[in-house]
Amino acid sequence: MTGTSPTVRARAELDLLVLGSGVAGLSAAVRAADTHGMAVGVLTKGELEQATTRWAQGGVAAVLSGDPDAIDLHLADTLEAGAGLCDIDSVRVLVDEGPSRVNELIGLGAIFDRDATGALSVSLEGGHSEARVIHAGGAATGEEVERALVSAVQRTVTVVHERSFAVDLLVDGGRCVGVIARGETGERTEIAARNVLLATGGAGQLFAVTTNPAEATGDGTAMAMRAGAAVADLEFFQFHPTALHDPRMPRPLLSEALRGHGALIRDSTGERFVDELEPRDVVSRAMTARMLEQKVEHLWLDATGISHFARRFPTITSTLAEVGLDPGVDWLPIAPAAHHQCGGVITDLRGATSLPGLWAAGETTCTGVHGANRLASNSLLEGMVFGPRVVEAIDAGVVGPEASGAMRCVLDPDDPTLEIGGVHIGLEPLDSIEPAEVPVGTGERRAQLQRAMTLGAGVLRTGPSLAATVAVVAGVRRSLAEPRTVADHELANLVTVAEGLLAAAMARTESRGAHTRSDHPDVSELLQVRLVVRLP
Ligand code: SIN
Repeated sequence: MTGTSPTVRARAELDLLVLGSGVAGLSAAVRAADTHGMAVGVLTKGELEQATTRWAQGGVAAVLSGDPDAIDLHLADTLEAGAGLCDIDSVRVLVDEGPSRVNELIGLGAIFDRDATGALSVSLEGGHSEARVIHAGGAATGEEVERALVSAVQRTVTVVHERSFAVDLLVDGGRCVGVIARGETGERTEIAARNVLLATGGAGQLFAVTTNPAEATGDGTAMAMRAGAAVADLEFFQFHPTALHDPRMPRPLLSEALRGHGALIRDSTGERFVDELEPRDVVSRAMTARMLEQKVEHLWLDATGISHFARRFPTITSTLAEVGLDPGVDWLPIAPAAHHQCGGVITDLRGATSLPGLWAAGETTCTGVHGANRLASNSLLEGMVFGPRVVEAIDAGVVGPEASGAMRCVLDPDDPTLEIGGVHIGLEPLDSIEPAEVPVGTGERRAQLQRAMTLGAGVLRTGPSLAATVAVVAGVRRSLAEPRTVADHELANLVTVAEGLLAAAMARTESRGAHTRSDHPDVSELLQVRLVVRLP
C-alpha cells in the first residue's frame, strides 16, 4: 500500500463496517445495530452529518397510501424515466418497500411536512404522473433525514470514525475483510470487518459545475474498481436542470418541486421551450441546446406565479435572498449542473457486489433502479430501501451475489450485456481541450479534470469531445504520484471513475437517458444493455 506512516491494526473485528454517512449507510447501520445487535462501525471522511444526503432538497418519492395501483404507477414512471435500462425487479423492490422504510424513518423521529389535516403533504416533480413526493422543511428534506439518522446512529452503533478516509479495501482469499483507512493526522489503520458496506455516495466532483459537495469524489466506486468489482451505467451522469447560476460551488439547487408548483423555464428572450415536468434528462438537454443556440451561460426560472413561496420553500428563499433575488418578482438565473451518478458498483437485489464480503448501497451503486436516468426523488428512497436490505442479507448468512437485480448482467449468461473489459479501451488521444501541460498542484489538476469533463463529457457529448477528454484525463493519470494527502487520494479516485465513465460513454454510440451523443442522436436497440466496466 501507499504512504509513509506506519499501519496500525484495529483489533476488534466488526460484523459490519459502513463506509459513508448518508441515508444508505446510516439506514443500514441503524438497522444492523438496533434490530440485529451487530457490532457496527461507521467510517466517514468528514463529520457524521456531512454527507451529500444533507443537500437533497425535493424529497422522497413514496406511495404511503398503500394503494397498489398508485404503487404500480410509481413503478411505471421510474421505468419510463430510466429509458429502457432499469431492472424491473429492483424497481419493484424500491416502490414496494419504500413506504415502510419512510414510516420507520418517521418512527426514528424524522419530521415531514404535513397539511392542515395532519396528513403528509405530497408534491409533484418532473417525470411523476401524480404527486407522491413527501418533503421536510419545504425543500430541506435531506437535512431532516440526515438529522434523524445521525441521532439514531449516535444512540446505537459501536464505533464512529469521523475525518477518517478509506484508502482501499482489504481483500484476502477473494473476500473483502476490511479497509485501510487514513486518520486525521495521516496515520494508517487497518480496520477488520466481516462485512464492508460501501455507501460513499456519488462523484459530482468529476465536473466543474455541480450541486454535489466537495466530498463527492467517487471514492467508493473507485475503491471497488481497484478491488476488481464490476461497475456499470457510469455513462449516465444526471444533470439537474435548475441549479442557480451563481459562482458558488456546490451550486445552490432550485428544487424540482418548484417546477412541480408551476415554475416555468424561459430562454434569454423570455420564451418557454420545454415542458418543465418532463424528466431531468429531457429538460437539461433542451436547456443546453438552447443555451448553445442563444450563446448564453444561463436561462431563467420564472417562479413568480408560485403563491406563498417563502412559506413553502423557506430555505430556497433565504438562499436567493443571499444573492439579492426575490422569487416573487425576479426571474432566477439557472443552468444544468452535475447532480447524480445513476450507475456505480453493480449489486444484486440484496446489495451484494461481485466481491464477497463487499456490499454497496445508495448513489455509489448500480442496483438497476435508475437505468439511464433517475426519476426525481428516488435517490433518498433508494438509500433507505437498499441499505437495510444489505443488513437483512448479512443476518440471513448470505455470502455472495446472486443473479438478481443489476447483478443479472454479470452472473446470468443470457442477460444482454456488453463487457468493456477494462477502462483502457485503446483510444488514441485525438486533441486536447486543455493545454497538454498538466499543472503541478493537486487542486489545479482536479480543476483541469473537472473543466475537461464538463466541456467534453457533460450534458451533450460527441466521439471527438469524449476522446479529447480522455486525453486530458490520461495526462492527469500520468501525473499521479504516491498519494500523500486525502486530496491526492481523491484526485486518483476521480481519475479512475472518469476513465470508467469515458470508456462507457465512448462505447455507447447512441443517445439514451442522461447520456446524449450529438453524433449519435438516436436510441440503438443493440445498446439496450448495461455496459460493464472492470479494471484489467
Ligand atoms: C430536487 O429537489 O430537485 C432534487 C431532489 C432529487 O435529486 O431527487
